[in-house]
Amino acid sequence: MRSCTPSSMRVSEPSDVVISSDDTCHIRLTWTGNECDKYPAKQHARKVAMELGVSSGLIYLVGQPVNNWGDSDQPQPFRQRRYFYYLGGIDAPDCYLIYDIQADLLTLYVPDFDLRRAIWMGPTLSIEEAHEQSDVDRVSYFASLQHDLESWASKHNGSYPIYILHENQKPVIPSKRLFLDNERLLPAMNAARVIKDEYELRMIRHANYISGLAHRKVLEDIHRMSTEAEIESSFLATCVSHGAKNQSYAIIAGSGQNAAVLHYVKNDEPLDGRQLVCLDAGAEWKCYASDVTRTIPLWTDWPSEHARNIYRVVEEMQEECIRRIRKGVRFRDLQLLAHEIAIRELQKLSILTDDSPKEIYNSGASAVFFPHGLGHHVGLEVHDVSERPITALDGNQTHRVGHNFVPPLNDSSWSVPLLNEGMVITIEPGIYFNRLALLNAQNQPLAKYINFDEAEKYIPIGGVRIEDDILVTAEGYENLTSAPKGEEMLEIIRRGIDNS
Ligand code: GLY
Ligand code: MN
Ligand code: MN
Repeated sequence: MRSCTPSSMRVSEPSDVVISSDDTCHIRLTWTGNECDKYPAKQHARKVAMELGVSSGLIYLVGQPVNNWGDSDQPQPFRQRRYFYYLGGIDAPDCYLIYDIQADLLTLYVPDFDLRRAIWMGPTLSIEEAHEQSDVDRVSYFASLQHDLESWASKHNGSYPIYILHENQKPVIPSKRLFLDNERLLPAMNAARVIKDEYELRMIRHANYISGLAHRKVLEDIHRMSTEAEIESSFLATCVSHGAKNQSYAIIAGSGQNAAVLHYVKNDEPLDGRQLVCLDAGAEWKCYASDVTRTIPLWTDWPSEHARNIYRVVEEMQEECIRRIRKGVRFRDLQLLAHEIAIRELQKLSILTDDSPKEIYNSGASAVFFPHGLGHHVGLEVHDVSERPITALDGNQTHRVGHNFVPPLNDSSWSVPLLNEGMVITIEPGIYFNRLALLNAQNQPLAKYINFDEAEKYIPIGGVRIEDDILVTAEGYENLTSAPKGEEMLEIIRRGIDNS
């Protein structure tokens, strides 16, 4: 990795990292270009301290250790704790960090050198390597952590707490009873993480770029594939060959009725006789997620009127919701809009009755076909953290009809969370014809709004979901997902066949 050069520094709008002088002039310094790709851990530490609303105290975070599987000498795949990564920027096991809020000093601790580990697994991260990867102020070996903690605690812990995430991650200093706070750090970190900075957006964009390549490759080759497993392995091969070894979540490649199982991950059935496959798969890049779903016809064109009609309904739900995204919009209004469109279109297809859309919505009948939320935050987790869920309501946050989530239609509370600049969210409407869900619906009061004979005809298509990752901006949005969909997707499938 090359070092930073000041030539790429620019001054822009006031934002997260603010250098304040007494005359309240705010200047933000931003590195641009590829030559400075260190993780902005320091900026994140300051942001968390600001969210905590305190000027003293110590943040103490424990990284993920190496763990073996139960009854085995084989290590589990390593996955860094995301709260730790947000302040440390190091994707390696057995690290710790402390942030002295008053001194504005962020220190990372890497494992002590271990010859045996070095011979078997390669050397652990050196101090120099850690400095190249993250802009923490200091890197020390684990051996000095206890001393540093004791020294801070004896000077300050009488007055200021050590902030920890969980009770089981507290530091232990045998000679001292520590003043700990395990309640305030988590919400502060959630509030900080929900707004992405330029570095984070670059990582999410790149994860989406690789996912786009992998989805495209599946489309080009789909005519040659005969099993769900081949789709999964093609997707994975493209990601890994582009340097993305990890997926943000288990790949979902569900054909036919399997597309109606929201988190179907077995991916072990043949495609023969199936109309559509729902491929929900996203690469991870440097711990940042992408989350992308495409529903792909297994023919050169739409295999049936039913498949085409449902694809168009979901396409309209997605396009209309994305079009309205901007700072200040209530996400749950978009979710209601998606239901409104679904109800109107399913009425046109005679799957829902001609009763009032409001009555149908309140009964939960549309949620039989669209049973999940419209989307979620994306970041270090595929379902990323936030202070409150984006579909939260005022007060009591859940209203369920059967197994389905149905927010009340007339809640106009001001305190419902709003979209804000810098959030990345998915918009992922879906319409499913799940045999079990329909059977269950037949015994519910909402059954009177569903024409089950008509719905039965759609069982073979399983379901359609389309999912993109969207950056919220002040004036609108930017779609970070480049995987082909709609007409472009069909053309790639046709070209694949023509060229074979
Ligand atoms: N891939 C999981 C989800 O879409 O939320
Ligand atoms: Mn998603
Ligand atoms: Mn997804």
